Amino acid sequence: MNNSIPIYHKDDFKKMREAGRLAAHILDQLYELIQTGISTLEINDFCHDLIIKNNAIPAPLNYKGFPKSVCTSVNHVVCHGIPNEKKILNNGDIVNIDVTVILNGWYGDSSRMFVAGKTNKKNWDLMKITYECLHIGIKEAQPGNHLGDIGYKIQEYAESKKYSVVRDFCGHGIGKEFHTPPSVLHFGNFGEGPELKPGMFFTIEPMINLGDWKIKILNDGWTAVTKDKSLSAQFEHTIGITENGNEIFTLSNNNTDFPINDL
Ligand code: MF3
Ligand code: CO
Ligand code: CO
Repeated sequence: MNNSIPIYHKDDFKKMREAGRLAAHILDQLYELIQTGISTLEINDFCHDLIIKNNAIPAPLNYKGFPKSVCTSVNHVVCHGIPNEKKILNNGDIVNIDVTVILNGWYGDSSRMFVAGKTNKKNWDLMKITYECLHIGIKEAQPGNHLGDIGYKIQEYAESKKYSVVRDFCGHGIGKEFHTPPSVLHFGNFGEGPELKPGMFFTIEPMINLGDWKIKILNDGWTAVTKDKSLSAQFEHTIGITENGNEIFTLSNNNTDFPINDL
């Protein structure tokens, strides 16, 4: 197995931009859709149909046996929640929707938090800090910096707010495959890991908990939940390292990548 980090070129940036823009477009449609009373299966089916309509493929479907087209992770579910018709969103629930599309062979992977109805300040603050963690990580993703700088800064900020960083899942290289090197940890030491170079593509996707960082996997083999049942939030972007910084491939097409309904 080749462990080196692929370096991509100008035309590849164009392909990733297209895939990323579609993933963002799907997420942009969900603010209106996600309301109290909707099931996570309905959210899945909406995303599935829209992805297909855009001539793309939902990457999670049948990926290592995952049975649905997006991941829907509600409240204390950390990630990889499986859409289900019986999981109905209640007022105040927070949910991460993780969309990965394959467009013309290239992967765009992004996730955001959504709120059913209105939530409370405790939930809101966790989402807001998690969103900030993602962007603090993205700011570190520059040529000449080290991969470990990203996780270091995310962890430093999350823990300064008395939250914890999930250890069991990380960001990943991405391109014409879903998951490639490098593994992008959301915790760790400054200056460690490989130096970042123009042409690297990867995701940053911190999962931040209100309580302890420990998780467990449910019997379905996928759903990751916090061990202490505390609330968890996550945001994810796919980015590419450029000569002088980075490009976010999965930015919202209308600047709404944070929950827009207020408290
Ligand atoms: N989109 C997830 C990620 O950010 C992976 C989902 S894999 C699945 O890497 F099989 F659960 F869909
Ligand atoms: Co990802
Ligand atoms: Co994802």
